[in-house]
Amino acid sequence: MSNIQNNISLKPYNTFGIDEMAKRFCTIQSAEQLQQLITDGEQDFFMLGGGSNLLLTQPVEQLVLKNEILGKEIVDETDATVTIAFGGGENWHESVLWAVENNYGGIENLSLIPGTVGAAPIQNIGAYGVELKDIFVKLEAIHTETGKQRIFTKEDCAFGYRNSVFKHELKGQYFITKVYLELTKKGHHQINTSYGAIATVLEENNIQNPTIQDISNAVIQIRSSKLPDPKKFGNSGSFFKNPIISKDYFEEMQSFFPSIVAYPQADGNVKVPAGWLIEKCGWKGKMVGNVACYAHQALVIVNLGNATGKEVLEHAKRIIDSVDNTFGIQLEPEVNIM
Ligand code: EPU
Repeated sequence: MSNIQNNISLKPYNTFGIDEMAKRFCTIQSAEQLQQLITDGEQDFFMLGGGSNLLLTQPVEQLVLKNEILGKEIVDETDATVTIAFGGGENWHESVLWAVENNYGGIENLSLIPGTVGAAPIQNIGAYGVELKDIFVKLEAIHTETGKQRIFTKEDCAFGYRNSVFKHELKGQYFITKVYLELTKKGHHQINTSYGAIATVLEENNIQNPTIQDISNAVIQIRSSKLPDPKKFGNSGSFFKNPIISKDYFEEMQSFFPSIVAYPQADGNVKVPAGWLIEKCGWKGKMVGNVACYAHQALVIVNLGNATGKEVLEHAKRIIDSVDNTFGIQLEPEVNIM
């Protein structure tokens, strides 16, 4: 029989620190345990990883499944690479630290991202020039209706910028049990310092030939200086995606705002930092009731204490309207709003 608990607060299970109730809650330690639940007739699930990309705005009626499937196993090895199967419930950052300690490269730029390994493919987590898809091999997941296991290749996942098939066609349908990543071995690392902030930190620290450990340290330093610690201020990292606009529109904006930052895309369009837009609209560091845009990174909405999910959502809407009125650009949330 499963360890289903009734009427528990989800506050400790979401990094925004929103106090919403779960009618029923259960931790999952293995694929078989979930399959048994499904065989027993359970149907309607709400899947939870680290709760770090989630804004709860109401009580959860479905059975909440907290992914606690652990394990790190080398399943394939060549002279240059190792393929490691990570349990979906493994903590992402601890897995990065483990890889770096063992001198396995490829995920050091993704240090200090909160959440679980199993949630990482859902939004194709990315930071400082690297995205999950760059090292992703495949994943195993359980179909929550039938209990059948399915393997998803990289193509099956349809990864995009903070996007995958699990946010669209297959939303809510699969519970990710294992993620396989291909990492590089010592002597074969591809150090990625393409993101300006990393190069700056390495220079400041006088590091000329960085190791994966140096990159991880630099990313930790940058993230700690810009992003609020959820233990102090509840948050879900970037609240919005960086919008992508046409080159023509970008050039028009640039003539009014020469300091605007741009990330040109392969298709000719231009990604612009939502944090910059929000700051220009005057929201950075501004408190409204129990919420604010973080003073060091306007893209992060923080819970100043006892904010409700609805309050956070209202603030997000204010920001969307304000950026739209000022720049004619529609911001889209990056976090999952429930
Ligand atoms: N900026 C401002 N004001 C702000 C914030 C940013 O002017 O308040 C400017 C910065 O000066 C910089 C540019 O915007 O020139 C980009 O800022 P930053 O390097 O902080 O990155 P970002 O584009 O705001 C994205 C990701 C982050 C990721 C970083 C580093 C998205 C939605 N966010 O943020 O991911 O860590 O790049 O790669 O793509 C997350 O997904 O939760 C997240 C934190």
